[in-house]
Amino acid sequence: MPQVRYTYPVSNRPQSAGWARSWVRIALIAHGLEDYLDSALLIMSELITNAAIHATRSDIIKIVCELDAGILILGVIDHDPRLPVRFDVSEDDEHGRGLMLVDAIADEWGCRPCDGGKIVFGLLHLHVSQPSAVRPRAELLVFA
Ligand SMILES: Nc1ncnc2c1ncn2[C@@H]1O[C@H](COP(=O)(O)OP(=O)(O)OP(=O)(O)O)[C@@H](O)[C@H]1O
Ligand SMILES: [Mg+2]
Repeated sequence: MPQVRYTYPVSNRPQSAGWARSWVRIALIAHGLEDYLDSALLIMSELITNAAIHATRSDIIKIVCELDAGILILGVIDHDPRLPVRFDVSEDDEHGRGLMLVDAIADEWGCRPCDGGKIVFGLLHLHVSQPSAVRPRAELLVFA
């Protein structure tokens, strides 16, 4: 198990993306990880937008933020059995950029079974010398 795991259930609709971004921002600031905000928010935006648009067989989705020694994972759990597919798109393509972006920004990304559904996640390596550089002030977070 990771040192810290926050999850936040939201209903699967377009407004959820804004809530997810706010929640990730609070989680990262609570742990002194402001330097990773831009990358983390971009990853979360693409993953939750995908869940809202593509995972139509999932009413409730869960946002996940995990922290472990030197690692930050941002993920979204849904219960749609279909899997994400990373496309190589050209300049003219209107869609298929989300996971290409996640692939470019995250150190790793993937999809695996989770909570009876699947989690699509992006992983960032944290360039902090010691895990203790993480400052837990988790009382700021809503989690379930
Ligand atoms: N959570 C998901 N559940 C099921 N299928 C998914 C999920 N996320 C992505 N996919 C599939 O993977 C494809 C690629 O996703 P990606 O985000 O790269 O592109 P897009 O969402 O189609 O377009 P864009 O993000 O550029 O608006 C999607 O078209 C969809 O078929
Ligand atoms: Mg997308």
